Formats: sequence, C-alpha cells, structure tokens
Amino acid sequence: MIRMVRWLAVLLLVLLGGTWAFAWVTRAPGEGLGEAFAGRLALLFGGQQPVPAMGGVQLPQGMSLGGAFSLVDQRGQPVTEASYAGKWLLVYFGYTFCPDVCPTELGTMAAAIDALGPLGERVTPVFVTIDPQRDTVAQMAEYVGRFHPRMQGLTGTPEQVAEAARRYRVYFARAQRAESSDYLMDHSSFVYLVGPDARVRTLFRPEAGPDDIAATMRTQLLRAGAAAS
Ligand code: NI
Repeated sequence: MIRMVRWLAVLLLVLLGGTWAFAWVTRAPGEGLGEAFAGRLALLFGGQQPVPAMGGVQLPQGMSLGGAFSLVDQRGQPVTEASYAGKWLLVYFGYTFCPDVCPTELGTMAAAIDALGPLGERVTPVFVTIDPQRDTVAQMAEYVGRFHPRMQGLTGTPEQVAEAARRYRVYFARAQRAESSDYLMDHSSFVYLVGPDARVRTLFRPEAGPDDIAATMRTQLLRAGAAAS
C-alpha cells in the first residue's frame, strides 16, 4: 500500500515536471511561465484554455479562487462574502504600513473604478490587510479613506486573515528588519476582480494599469448585464 502511494507520488511528480517543461518549451512570447504552466495543467486535466482577457489573466477552467471569508470592516462590523453578495468587487491584499507597492495598487484600483463612470458604481474596491497586528479597524478606516470614498478596509484575527488569504492564494510573510524593531511584510500583489458569486473572475498583475483594469471590468460587467437581461 505504501509502495503504491509512493509510486503514485512519483508518477504525479513526473507528470507535473513534464507539464512544466512542456509549458517552458511551448509558452508564447511574453507569456509568463506560471501562466503557461497553469494553462497546460488545465489542458492536462481536461480543461480548455480560455482566451486571455485584455489586461488580465483569465483563470484556467476548474481553478477557483475566492469564496467564503469572515472579517471585520472599517466600521468594526463583521462581514462575510454574503455581505457583498450580488456585488462586483475589486480586491487587493496588502498592509497599510507598506512603503510603496500597496498604495500604488490601491490608487490604480480607485482610478480604474472611477474611469468606468456610472458603471464603476457597481464595483466595490476592497482592501484586505495581511498585517492584522498593526492594521486595526481604526487604522484601516483612516487608510482606505485616502484612496476611494467607497473603499472597504477589512481586517480580523490572524486566523481570519490567514483563511481569507488562503482562499485567494495570497502569499504573505513577516520580514524583520535588522536595523529596527519595525517590520515589513512580503506579500503577493495581485488585484482580483470578483463576480457577484464571490468567485474571482480575473486577476491582474501588479503592472496592469488603470486603463487595462477598467477595460476588463467594462467587458465583464456588460457581458454579465447582457446575460441577466
Ligand atoms: Ni505592499
């Protein structure tokens, strides 16, 4: 039995390694290796490779990000994914003490939503901290107000935050600085467009600009609107 499990593990490793190599060889110019790997993996498991959306990375079929979470908003109210049911969200995970990347991304999100005009009012910008120790409710309230009047700032217990990050496959880790008692947080930096069903529809790389994000949101919102009517 143990031998069989070991065999299966080896087989899986070979399969994944082979797919990685195949992705490496066959990826399109400009296509990231991770993206190519995800695409080939989807092919391997019977999924179709979807057409990439302008400005964003379309998730391979069968890959699901997002879903349930339990956090506290910037007014101190408990919130879950159900609190935003039926709404489109533009979500980013970071922390308020971030020196550069987080403020830049939050500014980009706000600009993208405003660029949509009235259509943008259907999208709520959401900032989730991965540093709940320093990002209290009051800190979040003060911070998100700087970026957009409708931006939600979500924090919670370390466990709640870790669980939300896990659902979105967000990497984060504390990075102690030798020269001070302060610390930074290493974290992945994607912007997620979340549909009314709380599932991630598109993810944007850090280099995506407001125009790219706005164009993708417009396409998705109009498509969803057309399907609903
Ligand atoms: Ni940051």
